[in-house]
Amino acid sequence: MTQILIIGAGQAGLTAVQTLRGEGFDGAITMLGDESFAPYQRPPLSKAYLLGAFARERLFLKPDAFYAQAGCELLLNARAEAIDRAAHTVRLADGRVLAYDKLMLATGTRVRKLTCPGADLPGVFYLRDIADVDAIQPVFTAGAKLAVVGGGYIGLEVAAVGAKRGLDVTVFEAMDRLMARAVSPAVSAFYKTEHEKAGVKLLLNTGVEAFEGAGKIEVVRAGGVRHPADMVLVGIGVLPNDTLARDAGLACDDGIVVDRSAMTSDPDIFAAGDCTRHHGREGVAIRLECVQNAIDQAKHAALAMLGRPQTYSEVPWFWSDQYDLKLQMAGLARPDDTIILRGDPVSRKFAVFHLRDGKVAAVEAVNAGPEYLMGRKLIAANAAVPPEKLADMSIAMKDML
Ligand code: APR
Repeated sequence: MTQILIIGAGQAGLTAVQTLRGEGFDGAITMLGDESFAPYQRPPLSKAYLLGAFARERLFLKPDAFYAQAGCELLLNARAEAIDRAAHTVRLADGRVLAYDKLMLATGTRVRKLTCPGADLPGVFYLRDIADVDAIQPVFTAGAKLAVVGGGYIGLEVAAVGAKRGLDVTVFEAMDRLMARAVSPAVSAFYKTEHEKAGVKLLLNTGVEAFEGAGKIEVVRAGGVRHPADMVLVGIGVLPNDTLARDAGLACDDGIVVDRSAMTSDPDIFAAGDCTRHHGREGVAIRLECVQNAIDQAKHAALAMLGRPQTYSEVPWFWSDQYDLKLQMAGLARPDDTIILRGDPVSRKFAVFHLRDGKVAAVEAVNAGPEYLMGRKLIAANAAVPPEKLADMSIAMKDML
């Protein structure tokens, strides 16, 4: 009998369990996670769950009974501390030692922390897991002054929920535009307008130097300018949890390096999701932080563990919900892509296509489902579409090919 051990009880870990059983694997599966919860969806945490519009139970990806039914031993509050590759064992923080034939790492990411003076004051929060949101809720109340550090996905989703719940929100963003890592300048500009319309104050090119005080916090900017706040939410990116792999001597490079079958540099160890770096369909090494990659790469890891490796080449996709705006993105843009705007941002429904060598390489769609869905297909097909056709609103997206 073969023993598969999965470290990390999130979206990728769960997907591997489902795929293994779906493909007929009848050996033993153990999945362990260091949180006290069974696998749950993270995306709603900074959206509906923070808003209070989403019950805790709805976060869970599967009912508790699923794990026993699937023959998966689920160990919660269990932290893996070391992998012994020669012995094929994993040691947990509580001293237990678990054996494996095949091991999968689905350890995800952790928040990047600010290191400035006062960064550990009470009232300075991060948002990555259920416990984080539950800690934020009691102070996330109407009238409170909220300082958000980081104008990326997390910071802006929290700003939108805060504005909706009547908090007085100020965002401090180090770069000269919002979501600079993820979206094009046109989309950044659109979101700036929308947040300002909602009453959110946006300070671009603005780093934070320190936090001071107790109870009330003073956010200190470069030059000594001070902003009073009741709470601070920091969303300045995430770091891959690759220490376990690194300590075991596996190849790592800001993430656990895997090939396109999701195998690490050890043929008995596989990895999937946010914690990995792989050569994507464009041949460039990349670490993807998204549900799509967690699911698709975990399927590949499961197949590879069963001795049936497949080449991973899925088109990455991402989304963000802010106010009533649904931002959906597919593909990976590059700064030198040709940009085609379809629709008028003023209408709050538009898309930005990225063409590379005449072919659709990426799409960003705001409240524009057909543009997003067809965009994804065009990217997957490596399709060439004339720019004027893409921009022509009288031509339906379904007629683009
Ligand atoms: N001060 C102010 N802003 C900063 C600082 C700083 N010291 N350091 C970084 N930033 C800004 C970046 O310029 C960027 O706009 O913080 C933002 C971080 O945005 P993201 O990289 O999108 O990270 P985050 O919002 O934390 O989201 C992390 O969580 O939503 C999930 O998987 C999703 O990848 C996303 C992840």
